[in-house]
Amino acid sequence: MSPEKPTILVTGGAGYIGSHTVLALKRAGYEVVILDNLVYGHRDLVEQVLQVELVAGDTADRPLLDKLFQTHNITAVMHFSAYAYVGESVTDPAKYYRNNVLGTLVLLEAMLAASVKKFVFSSTCATYGVPEVVPIPENHPQNPINPYGATKLMVERILSDFDTAYGLKSVRFRYFNAAGADPTGLLGEDHNPETHLIPLVLLTALGKRESISIFGTDYPTPDGTCIRDYIHVSDLADAHVLGLEYLLKGSDSEVFNLGNGLGFSVKEVISAAEDVTGLTIPVKECDRRPGDPPSLIGSSEKARKILGWQPQYPAIKDIVLHAWQWHQKRHK
Ligand SMILES: NC(=O)c1ccc[n+]([C@@H]2O[C@H](COP(=O)([O-])OP(=O)(O)OC[C@H]3O[C@@H](n4cnc5c(N)ncnc54)[C@H](O)[C@@H]3O)[C@@H](O)[C@H]2O)c1
Repeated sequence: MSPEKPTILVTGGAGYIGSHTVLALKRAGYEVVILDNLVYGHRDLVEQVLQVELVAGDTADRPLLDKLFQTHNITAVMHFSAYAYVGESVTDPAKYYRNNVLGTLVLLEAMLAASVKKFVFSSTCATYGVPEVVPIPENHPQNPINPYGATKLMVERILSDFDTAYGLKSVRFRYFNAAGADPTGLLGEDHNPETHLIPLVLLTALGKRESISIFGTDYPTPDGTCIRDYIHVSDLADAHVLGLEYLLKGSDSEVFNLGNGLGFSVKEVISAAEDVTGLTIPVKECDRRPGDPPSLIGSSEKARKILGWQPQYPAIKDIVLHAWQWHQKRHK
């Protein structure tokens, strides 16, 4: 008989990337407990699809965390929970510093009190700010241009200091644009409000929105629209299992970009969606939005080399197809 695999606490496991990672952890044989306050998470997906224990609560609730660590034999924490609306972080930064920084600090202190010292963290390419070079390597300067990115950078700094002082080992993943859905159709993206390009394009295709806005058609890119690095959510989930295993074998703290190293423009994404859906998607060309860099592409060579990570779905058509299958089912 194989020995029992450890129990992993997944915060934000009822959300988009967290739920796909819980599925990957389950498939790899891990026990999982989800902590999610359900502000944005989906109880139905946890109960019907993931079928793991859900603790409905907040990462800032220290008594709840202490009880959770006392009653479960948790080996490591994967921390997805955060607020992630860039625009809102500009108009209401207090909400973001409180949840993303303070909420994480409370969680980390509870972990230390319970002697749990392995942590996988959802950071973001937004910590880089406006890139000086593309593809962006991990050692690129970090100068976030909005409070959301700043909150993630602060947590990265806390993690580095907590390693030095308390020996808390972490893997910090800086994601580029998470997209797509579980290829078997079990899970997908369901943000409300939705701000991500691919679901917005597909919701337009489904007739749930009138048109898709293209913000800026005069960028210095081949077709004038912004270029982003879309990474399939199941590939992100696989990277998390590898990152966890990297920590479980006693490795040192590390930071990894997670992207495809490939960029697609807004117009290319819309065209892929038209191919996949067979529909014409109405677009509205608008002015640039402040703070949108022309091109954001990450170098993920380090994750490939050190973790052995190999994205399975780099093609934009696959990413859009899986998302389309999910949205058709979710919005029937
Ligand atoms: N989606 C992306 O493209 C992207 C890119 C870079 C980084 N990230 C980061 O990845 C993580 C997951 O993103 P997502 O798109 O899955 O977001 P999501 O909103 O779908 O998931 C976050 C989950 O955390 C929960 N949550 C929020 N605050 C909480 C708290 N204080 N206590 C308990 N639960 C709480 C929400 O209810 C939600 O279920 C976030 O930290 C985000 O900043 C996402």
